[in-house]
Parts: sequence; structure tokens; C-alpha cells
Amino acid sequence: SNSPPMQRRPITKQRFVADLSQCLFDFVIQLLPTPEEMAVKEDVRKLLERLIRTIEPDSRLLSFGSTANGFSLRNSDMDLCCLIDSEERLSATDLVTMLGDLLERETKFHVKPLPHARIPIVKLSLDPSPGLPLGIACDIGFENRLALENTRLLMCYAMIDPTRVRTMVLFLKVWSKRRKINSPYKGTLSSYGYVLLVIYFLVHVKNPPVLPNLQQMPPLRPISTEDTHLNGHNIWFFDDIDLLRQRWHSENTETVAELLIDFFRYYSRDFLYNTGVASIRAGLLKKESKGWQSEVTGNRYDSRERNRLCIEDPFETDFNVARCVTKDGLYTIRGEFMRASRILQTRPERAIVALAELCE
Ligand code: GTP
Ligand code: MG
Repeated sequence: SNSPPMQRRPITKQRFVADLSQCLFDFVIQLLPTPEEMAVKEDVRKLLERLIRTIEPDSRLLSFGSTANGFSLRNSDMDLCCLIDSEERLSATDLVTMLGDLLERETKFHVKPLPHARIPIVKLSLDPSPGLPLGIACDIGFENRLALENTRLLMCYAMIDPTRVRTMVLFLKVWSKRRKINSPYKGTLSSYGYVLLVIYFLVHVKNPPVLPNLQQMPPLRPISTEDTHLNGHNIWFFDDIDLLRQRWHSENTETVAELLIDFFRYYSRDFLYNTGVASIRAGLLKKESKGWQSEVTGNRYDSRERNRLCIEDPFETDFNVARCVTKDGLYTIRGEFMRASRILQTRPERAIVALAELCE
């Protein structure tokens, strides 16, 4: 007969992205902390707060980082910050030493006080138990109000579009950990840095944007500089998310899979690594305009090593969140963005295969 030979057509893009979005949701959901884990962590926070109050009665212990911003994975560490509301208080160094002694005496934690670190902290860990099969790791710092505020900013971004933002961020956190490019101590990028890259992409790269710029929206009523500034940094942002959701809707209807594919393509090909600074506050800036380019200081080599990848902190604008990323680190990270982009371009028959390969 004349019928054409059977041909295996490649899976359509439409089917692949629908399938991949579903896989991403399913994948991320099983990595979320269990309610038990969250309850144990809250108990630990309360216990520690009670103990700290025996040293500083007017103190509060607040959680920040992933436990507080909605980007927490199972068994992620706990970041705690102690705020002291009285005028006369001990120095962070003394507090760290005293708290270290107290916790060593009164609790089962392994305790490591670092009173002379640039930012003094107490590091704690707890061995595995039935409620916490992988134990717990926790850092307690002092008076780190900027970290509490940037945590709140990230949380607000997550709340605007929980499905797309949280799925993307959580996936990138797992992916970057599995691919071993999430270690500032080894020259790659912190989770905080990856989260900022995602938000930058959703606010400033996508057109139409998936998220508004919360730091540039007009306030509902005038606010004095006193109320917007902390240690000289402008920490104001639009934080009435209920109201925002009534008034602002994204015109962008892309699925999480489409956004992820585009994210990897953007950071493997298009982002201007040599000259650009990703700023969620102000969009794409130039290294030059921030004094972050290579040839500016006498200490040429050092400055260049520190500013290979530039991500502006949303509030501490003179601070490069990616300052730990080395030449090799950036090479590896970009290589991983390219690898991910390539895997997703091939569109295997089943999206789950792509996902497994991405994270292997
Ligand atoms: P995992 O611990 O990997 O689950 O991620 P995380 O979301 O807790 O992020 P990470 O541990 O990288 O950072 C925790 C918090 O510390 C962030 O939410 C910030 O508030 C703060 N932080 C971390 N790195 C920096 C930094 O370089 N600059 C500033 N200002 N804050 C930082
Ligand atoms: Mg953390």
C-alpha cells in the first residue's frame, strides 16, 4: 500500500511543559518539611528563647531564613536571631560566650560558640531522634534586623504567587544542592543568592513580569525617613499583600515549567556576567556604577575575585550577596545552568526523566 512509514514524532512543547509543571509540583511537595518537623522546630525556638531570657530578660528569639520565608525544605537548618529590647545590653561577644556556657550546661545540644567571628553566633546541633530523624542544626545570631527584614521581603514575594514562585525557588534550592553549587564556603552561591536570582528574573527579566517590584511601589500614605531606614539602609517595601492581590494581577500566564526553562536559558546565555549587577530593587545595574568592576581599586586581584558574579542585597545595597563566588565557582555554576538548559531543550518523552537527570 501507499501509507507512509510510521514515524515517532517528538513530543510537542505544549505537552512537555504541562507534564513538567505537574512533575515539578509533585517533586517539590514531597520535599517540604512535615508538620511534625515544623512543630519540633518551634518547640526548640521556644526552649532556647526561655533560656536566653535567663540572661537577657528583655530578649526575643525570632526565626529568619528559610524556616520563616516559606522556602524551607525538609531538614533545612534553622536561622535564629535574638533581639534585645532594652537599652543596656551585653555585647554580642559576651552574650555568645554566656549563652554557649548556659546551653552546654542545660541542654543536650552540641554547642559551638563563635564569640569572635565577624558576626558572633552560637552554633547548635541536635542528634537524630524519632521526631527529627536527621537531627537539627541551628545558628543563633544577635540584632541582625536586616536579615529579619530581607526574610520578610522574600516571604512577601512568595505570597504574591505562591504556586509559581515557591515551586521555582524550592526546585532551584534542591537542584543547586544536588549539583553541589550551593556552598559559599567553596566558592559557589548561597541559597539566599539563588532566591534573589529567581526574584530578579520574575520582576525584571520576564515581560510581562510575574511579580511587581515591591520596593518601588508607592506607599499607601507618606512615611517618614525614620520609619523607612534601619542603620542607614532603606528597608521600606510594600508589604500589604492582601491589598496587593486585590489591586495587582500579573499579565504573565506562563506555567512554572516554561518559566524554569526560560530561567536556565537566561542565566546560561543572556545575563551580562562581566558587566551586570542583578538588583531586585533597581533592575540591571552596571558593576562600574557600584564600583564593583575589576580594575577599580589598588587591590585589583582581590576586588575582581570578589565581584565575578554580582547580586545586590535588596537593603544593604553596597553589599554583593555573591561576593564568595570565585572564578572557578562561577564557571561551574554557568556550566550547570547550560547543562540544565540543554536537558530541558531535548524534551524527553516523559518529563520526570528530565527532572531526574537534572538533579542527578
Ligand atoms: P537553606 O539554609 O539552604 O535552606 O536556605 P535559606 O533560605 O535559609 O538561605 P540561607 O541559609 O542562604 O540564608 C538565610 C538567611 O540569612 C537569608 O534569608 C538572609 O536573611 C540571611 N542571609 C544569608 N546570606 C546573606 C547575605 O549574604 N547577606 C545578607 N544581608 N543576608 C544574608
Ligand atoms: Mg538557612
